[in-house]
Amino acid sequence: MMKQSEFKKRRKQFMQRIGKGNIALIGSASVHTRNRDVDYPFRQDSDFYYLTGFNEPDALAVFIPGREQGEYILFCREFDEKKALWEGAHSGLEGATKHYAADDSFPIDDVDDILSGMLENKVKVFYPMGRDIRSHRDLIGLITRIRMQSRLGVVAPAELASIEPILHEMRLFKSPAELKLMRHAAEISAQAHVKAMQFCRAERFEYQIEADIVHHFMQSGLRAVAYPSIVACGKNACTLHYTENKDQLKNGDLLLIDAGAECNHYAADITRTFPVSGKFTEPQAQLYQLVLDAQLAAIEQIKPGIPWNAAHEVSVEVITKGLVKLGLLKGNVKKLIKAEKYKQFYMHRIGHWLGMDVHDVGDYKINQEWRKLQAGMVLTIEPGLYIPENCKTIDKQWRGIGIRIEDDILVTKEGHEVLTNGVPKTIVDIEAVMNSTDKFIAIS
Ligand code: GLY
Ligand code: MN
Ligand code: MN
Repeated sequence: MMKQSEFKKRRKQFMQRIGKGNIALIGSASVHTRNRDVDYPFRQDSDFYYLTGFNEPDALAVFIPGREQGEYILFCREFDEKKALWEGAHSGLEGATKHYAADDSFPIDDVDDILSGMLENKVKVFYPMGRDIRSHRDLIGLITRIRMQSRLGVVAPAELASIEPILHEMRLFKSPAELKLMRHAAEISAQAHVKAMQFCRAERFEYQIEADIVHHFMQSGLRAVAYPSIVACGKNACTLHYTENKDQLKNGDLLLIDAGAECNHYAADITRTFPVSGKFTEPQAQLYQLVLDAQLAAIEQIKPGIPWNAAHEVSVEVITKGLVKLGLLKGNVKKLIKAEKYKQFYMHRIGHWLGMDVHDVGDYKINQEWRKLQAGMVLTIEPGLYIPENCKTIDKQWRGIGIRIEDDILVTKEGHEVLTNGVPKTIVDIEAVMNSTDKFIAIS
C-alpha cells in the first residue's frame, strides 16, 4: 500500500505548480455497464488516484491552492447503509476527511452548486482537457452561470488549461515508493511467464495458459491484470492486439504471451515468445535471435541524456540488417531503412512509458524534439517481427511467425535496470526452463 504521506507530498507539489488564484478539478472513473445490470470491475482513474488514493467512483477532487478553509476538497458519495449492505464499504464524507486527508468533503450530488462557488473569482481552471466531453460541457455550463452574475461583481474564470503538462510530468518520474510497487508487479509477472513456459503443452487452449498466468497473479496477491493478456499461438501472434485467446496450441508453433499484473495501480508489461514443443525450429530460432539482438542493443542504449528515439533507431538498424542477411529484405541497408521497408515486418515502435497506466503518461517530445531520458523514468523495450502468413513473396519457412520480446526498464543515474529479468529470454535459457524436470524451482 502507498502511504498517505506520499499522496500528500504529490498534492503539495501539484498545488505549487497550479499556483494561487487558480483551481484544479479531477474526476474519478465511473462504473461501466457490462451487460444489463452487471458492471465491469471498477478501476480508478490513474490521475485521480495519483493525487487522492481514493478508490471510489462518483467522486471529484478539487484543488484550490491557498484556500483558507482548506486546499483539497473531495466530493464523493454520502455514506448509505443500504448501499454498504449491497455493494460494500464506501468512505462517505467523514471517511474522505478522516482516511484520505481531504480538508473538506461534500456530497457529489451537490457538486454543481458548491463547485460553482469555488470557481468564482478564480483565474484559471485546470482539468483533464479533451478526455471526457460531458465533464467539459458541465464545466462550461458552470462558468456560463457564473458569468451571468458578473454585474454582481462576480468574476468567472477566464482560462481553461489542461492538467496534463503538470500532472503527467510528475507521474513520469517514479518515486522510490512507486518503484517498489512496480518492482513487485514486475517480479510476479516474470514468475507467471516462467510458469506459462513450464505449463505450455500442445493441445491446451490459449485461454488455459491465460488462466495459469492470472492464477499466479492472484495467488501472489495481485488481483488485477494491467491489460488484457495476449496469448497468441502461431499466426495469431501476427495480430498485434490479439486477445481472443481461443485457439489450441500446436507443436511446431511459437507462442507469444504479452501479460502483466497490476500492483496497487502500477503495471508490469512483459512479452515472451517461445516454442510450444520446447524447442525452436531453425527458422524460428533465426528470427527469434534477431529480435533478441535488437532488444538487447536497444536496452543497451538506455541511460540519462539519450534521446527517447535512440533505442528505436538502433532496433530498426539491427532488424533491417538481420532481415537482409536472412533474405527477407533485399538491397542496401541504409536505403531500406530510409524507405522504411522494415515496417512490413516491424510496424510498431520500440516501446512506451510505463507506470500507473500500461501506456503511461508523459510527453515523448519537447519542442518537437525527442526528449532525453532521465533517471526515474520507466519504459518498455519491445521490438518484434511479424511475418504475415499470406505474404507470398517471402519464403514459406518464415510465414506466420510472430515474435515480440518485451522488458520493463528503469532509467537510473548510472544507466538502467531491467525490472523484468526474472524471466529468461535467450534461446538456451528458454529451452532449459521448458525442458527442466525441476519444475517451479525458478519460481518457488
Ligand atoms: N501490452 C501492451 C503493450 O505491450 O504495449
Ligand atoms: Mn508494452
Ligand atoms: Mn506488452
